Amino acid sequence: MKYFIANWKANKTKEEADRWVDTFLTGIQSNSILKNALLEDSLRIILCPPFPLLYPISAKISGYKNIYLGSQDVSVFDKGSLTGEVPADLLKGVIQYVIIGHSERRNLLHETDAMLSKKVEKAKSVGIEPIFCVRGEQDMIPPGVRMVAYEPVWAIGTGKNDSLDEVLTTKQKLQSSPTTVFLYGGSVNEDNAKIYLSSEQIDGLLVGTASLNPDHFLRITTK
Ligand code: PGA
Repeated sequence: MKYFIANWKANKTKEEADRWVDTFLTGIQSNSILKNALLEDSLRIILCPPFPLLYPISAKISGYKNIYLGSQDVSVFDKGSLTGEVPADLLKGVIQYVIIGHSERRNLLHETDAMLSKKVEKAKSVGIEPIFCVRGEQDMIPPGVRMVAYEPVWAIGTGKNDSLDEVLTTKQKLQSSPTTVFLYGGSVNEDNAKIYLSSEQIDGLLVGTASLNPDHFLRITTK
């Protein structure tokens, strides 16, 4: 199984998202290799749009095998009097995955290891699978994490992707269990995706910029 995660970050209006999903689903329907890969469990696509788009997109993709939805964050708090927070309880049943520990949130919003562990715990308590991002081997991985995305900060959104050798060396240094799903992210595009996908040690890709265009993203999934 190879995983492809589209991390839209803080992009796309409702209209843009509708168009994206329509183009994406039409693209799948017209590509028998892709369609079969999804049906045969050799491919899983996880769309991670901003919060306001989760409900409309979930309605559009419902019934498609191996197309899942994820959020880009989850609150450290339980539901209650917390203006602006989105706790795990409210996401239960809407999404199946959540990105936790992205370097943009660690660096700009000062998310600490303790907060990230709490978020993992909250997500798992309602059956949402964390996709845990690390910037390198220095970042600790909280207990219970089954999907890890290695994303070197210098490679994010810069057009400079890490080499396969470096990605595999980092994977080794992270010492996660052999059953952990290991992903690479950082300037992945349709030209370099194959380098990573050719390795049996890399289970998939976390794609930012190139996921904003449905055709580019689909081409990455068929490399
Ligand atoms: P990028 O972003 O593909 O634009 O480098 C990846 C990410 O930050 O998840």
